[in-house]
Amino acid sequence: MDDLDTLTRAVLDRVAAASAASELEDLRVGALGKKGTITELVKGLGSLGPEERKARGQAVNLAKDAIAAAIDARKASFAARDLEAKLATERIDVTLPVRPEALGRIHPVSQVMDEIIAIFAAQGFTVAEGPDIEDDFHNFTALNIPANHPARQMHDSFYLPRKADGTQMLLRTHTSPVQIRHMQSHQPPHRIIAPGRTYRCDSDQTHTPMFHQVEGLVIDRNIHMGHLKGVLEDFVRTIFGVPDLSFRFRPSHFPFTEPSAEADIGCTRKGGEFKIGGSDWLEILGCGMVHPKVLEAAGVDSTEWQGFAFGLGIDRIAMLKYGIPDLRAFFEADLRWLRHYGFAPLDIPSVAGGLNQ
Ligand code: DAH
Repeated sequence: MDDLDTLTRAVLDRVAAASAASELEDLRVGALGKKGTITELVKGLGSLGPEERKARGQAVNLAKDAIAAAIDARKASFAARDLEAKLATERIDVTLPVRPEALGRIHPVSQVMDEIIAIFAAQGFTVAEGPDIEDDFHNFTALNIPANHPARQMHDSFYLPRKADGTQMLLRTHTSPVQIRHMQSHQPPHRIIAPGRTYRCDSDQTHTPMFHQVEGLVIDRNIHMGHLKGVLEDFVRTIFGVPDLSFRFRPSHFPFTEPSAEADIGCTRKGGEFKIGGSDWLEILGCGMVHPKVLEAAGVDSTEWQGFAFGLGIDRIAMLKYGIPDLRAFFEADLRWLRHYGFAPLDIPSVAGGLNQ
């Protein structure tokens, strides 16, 4: 008996002292494997008498079980320890503030676009989109700008190479073609805005070959210019954060609207300083009642439906709102510029949450 006890105790001590799972495996093989020390004891049982063999056999089995259990328990504790260590190295504290130098910035155009969308969404508008590469019909003809109309030259279009059938696609010169596409593919009533990229062959401090516009379109049964003025007045006051900002319509002309207007907002120009709000005027957008010919070209019955449209430059609003002097810098991808004029990514604009950070 003594040799079994001594042997068992020795193995259990080594199990307790083991420092890695691989050591435990060696101990298991050394004691319980085919040629293990405990296994060898079982082999000797055959030479014993029946009573003694039974008692000895039970004692050896108990020893085997005790050793196997100790090894398993120790293995489990190693596994738990390894898992703890792994989790500790992988731990991240999600409550830590972001390192400012690692934070990206939102471009002012994206910021203003999100602000515009938030304001019109609060008025019940949804966002529509159209392609940057347009055909002549959607960009011009359907908008009541026929071939040889002077407005085509004014748009300084970028044309793609002429196709075999003689037609020529172009980069859209305004977002107005989205009006046509939306009316063609949806049933009235309509209440959409269409923000996006537009292109004209032009470059100076306030013009870039690629720029951004947002188009608006409302078509219903009893829409009039009063609605148009209300929608836009609310918009300019909210986007510039000036609650009593003055706003006026001036008669104008666009082929796709009749009557047409340009809208001005109040501003102040004093000694080289410029500010939104005041008794001077600054032109901000074009708008009008959608021309019946435009409705008909898009498949809308102009005796039943009418409404208004408007178009405005997003980049220009960003320049005015955030005091950015040169439009060309918007598209130079200069990180120093973006760090200076950009916005924090988590400041998502909303009418309720605030637009004027
Ligand atoms: N498409 C015009 C432009 O790019 C802007 C515009 C004016 C859009 C009047 C409209 C509108 O929808 O009604 O100059």
